[in-house]
Amino acid sequence: MSARIIDGKTISADLRGKVTDAVHRLRRDRGIVPGLAVVLVGNNPASRVYVRNKSKAVTEAGLRSFDQHMPEDVSEAELLDLIARLNADAQVNGILIQLPLPPQINADKIIAAIDPDKDVDGFHPLNAGRLASGLPGLVPCTPLGCVRLAKTVHASLAGLEAVVIGRSNIVGKPVAQLLLAENATVTIAHSKTLDLPAVCARADLLVAALGRPEMVLGAWIKPGATVIDVGINRIAGEHGRPRIVGDVAHAEARGIAGAITPVPGGVGPMTIACLLLNTLIAACMQNGLPAPKI
Ligand code: GUN
Repeated sequence: MSARIIDGKTISADLRGKVTDAVHRLRRDRGIVPGLAVVLVGNNPASRVYVRNKSKAVTEAGLRSFDQHMPEDVSEAELLDLIARLNADAQVNGILIQLPLPPQINADKIIAAIDPDKDVDGFHPLNAGRLASGLPGLVPCTPLGCVRLAKTVHASLAGLEAVVIGRSNIVGKPVAQLLLAENATVTIAHSKTLDLPAVCARADLLVAALGRPEMVLGAWIKPGATVIDVGINRIAGEHGRPRIVGDVAHAEARGIAGAITPVPGGVGPMTIACLLLNTLIAACMQNGLPAPKI
């Protein structure tokens, strides 16, 4: 039997609609318009596309967009100075520094300079620590999107065997923390894991965030499992045309899984929707209002 496809486009459109409504109410009732500053350094083509898509989504949701484009050779001091100005600007509720940054910039130092209450990426060590400690805080967007997608399949994640492949600070570790907070039994697998197929075969919920095209094979997947594919890999397709594939061999996995995200159109669109949600939450927190339940 073929797996149910978890349609990230539709699910993210629904979330974006709810955020847009909540933003409208915030403006109408309190006169508050949440603002997001996206900082792009240099001209990395992929980063430019991401930033353009983010800014479009921000404006469409009724938020204010404060885009900042810095040259490739910007110094660390100049970037820290920009962050200090954005931290101090009451109209800016969220700050996102598009990664990767050029080699002269220490990304850890830059992330640590962002006001944690404006850290809509959830990358600041304070927010990572809050997540690990079960305290409220801003949570990384892609992991949040993964969990929201899993919850469209499972009313509760409690007691599920969840396996996360990948241990990055951006996806693997935070998604594992979020699943733990949902009372799943969580295993984090990575490049040094012995017998990865056997570990994956235990999973009722498999999150693939290893960054290797189509590495997770159908035979690794427990029949009926839910598979969330975080990978976005560009490979050469037929006639040399580039093709975007995930970290899961989708065609074969689809015959075994119970539900699976497509690539593109799965996790990707959820990341931007969750960024809008985080900016709304940050604006509410900064104005002493409860975070909206969306
Ligand atoms: N580059 C690739 N993904 C991301 C992300 O989620 N946040 C930021 N800031 N940069 C990225």
